[in-house]
Amino acid sequence: MTKLTRRNFIRFAGAGAATAVLAACTPKTTTPAPTGAGETPLPATGLPQATLPPPTAVASADFAPDVEIALKAVQDTAVIFPNVTTNVWRIRGELLQGDASALQSIPDSYLGPILRLRKGQKVRIHFTNELPEESIIHWHGLHVPAEMDGHPQYVVGNGETYVYEFEVRNRAGTYWYHPHPHGRTGPQVYAGMAGFFLVTDDEEAAANLPDGEYDIPLVIQDRRFDDNGQLVYQGNGTMDQMMGFLGDQLLVNGQPDFTLPVAARAYRLRLLNGSNSRIYKLGWENGSPFTVIGTDGGLLEKPVERPYLTLAPAERLEIWVDFSDQPIGTELNLVSLPFNTGSFNSGQFPILTARVERESAENATLPERLSTPNFFDEADAERTREVALEMSMGRGWTLNGRTFEMTAVTDDETIKQGSLEIWEFNNKGSGRGGMMGGGMSLPHPMHMHGESFKIIERQIDHDGEAAWETLSAGVVDDGWKDTVLVMPGQRVKVLRRFGDFTGLFLYHCHNLEHEDMGMMRNYRVDAV
Ligand code: C2O
Ligand code: CU
Ligand code: CU
Repeated sequence: MTKLTRRNFIRFAGAGAATAVLAACTPKTTTPAPTGAGETPLPATGLPQATLPPPTAVASADFAPDVEIALKAVQDTAVIFPNVTTNVWRIRGELLQGDASALQSIPDSYLGPILRLRKGQKVRIHFTNELPEESIIHWHGLHVPAEMDGHPQYVVGNGETYVYEFEVRNRAGTYWYHPHPHGRTGPQVYAGMAGFFLVTDDEEAAANLPDGEYDIPLVIQDRRFDDNGQLVYQGNGTMDQMMGFLGDQLLVNGQPDFTLPVAARAYRLRLLNGSNSRIYKLGWENGSPFTVIGTDGGLLEKPVERPYLTLAPAERLEIWVDFSDQPIGTELNLVSLPFNTGSFNSGQFPILTARVERESAENATLPERLSTPNFFDEADAERTREVALEMSMGRGWTLNGRTFEMTAVTDDETIKQGSLEIWEFNNKGSGRGGMMGGGMSLPHPMHMHGESFKIIERQIDHDGEAAWETLSAGVVDDGWKDTVLVMPGQRVKVLRRFGDFTGLFLYHCHNLEHEDMGMMRNYRVDAV
């Protein structure tokens, strides 16, 4: 293969302070299917690492699953571009027990299968690792016991299996799964390991939203390919790690130049940003606004309108798109619009084309009310914790000056079970490492494992305003969330409960290169 299609070529220009600081970084190309362990940042606190009981690696006799699935991580090849075979790492699924709808593959895609479960169902998943390095799967956004959450301490090696057993407790929504081995999450997700985990419930069913073929999950990712059509990922210690990896080829559901054939009627589109670090500002080229019906943690109370959609890594947005006024043959282009983050300018590039191909006899009506979110009351919060997002000399990105330690937690990461708390993510950029006088600041999509949260406040300082205004109208802070984009110069407060499960859970930046370099910490929920 000589040349990949340039239609989806993403123009990007680094500019400003970050580029200058990072000019000394030497890019180093590594092979697509990465081998060898990543560099693990040094522990920051030196606290003793707890010894924990061994993980549940075998199925238990007293757990009666409604659905049982085998997921296998394998080295494989995929045809992403015509007549080219690309090496990927993929997750293959097999339904062992339960309703056939519980496991669906995305047609012509190397991405993991779609898991579809109902709230209240019990699921057992056997994850077998056939990769040449350790891995473990995390259910992003799901609310499961600590040993079932895919914490990196539970990694399994080649030929080993980890058995997950849990009840689906989340409200209906668009969740997803991906690997979580420390230091290697970025390369493993990049190589192809990610899939949707969709949850349904009675409340969602009552909203009568488009379903079946009219309910379409779409994962947006950027990749880089070499002249042989092989994935290229930049390794540790590079500029890509400090800034986050950015590709120049856009893929939707694992495919370039993605076209979505639709009928002239309403659709529910579920958008997931499955990219390692790229933020998107999604807009219809014809300027049509968006009707948002859901966020990370399921349906909003009511639909909201946005002129465009800002989607940071790991975030999900569900939209209602009605094609019923469009004549057959119409093509609607979804693009990423220009914006800047203060240190990075993103140009315009195509995402996908929706082509109206057929009439539809029936249509759906957008409900005025979608769900009852039952948010907590901020006045009931017991305390506020602050998490400073900082660049630290020698350690890179940190949370309160610390990097990840496998099982350690500090006092400010220890929580009483049942607490309702405010966590404030502070991206003011005045790093204590003093790497750059005023401090270097990048966007950080902050994610917490466990129960979803509500964004209750977003403060923007003067320095961050100009960049923020290029993205802000597309941000949806309503609804239940598990990942929140914290832009440079911002302090964002979230309200959440630490209710049902005790044990060690993670919070981290979902820029996967930041996460891998240690911008991740544990929090521990203790029984009272
Ligand atoms: Cu999707 Cu800990 O991550
Ligand atoms: Cu998660
Ligand atoms: Cu980050």
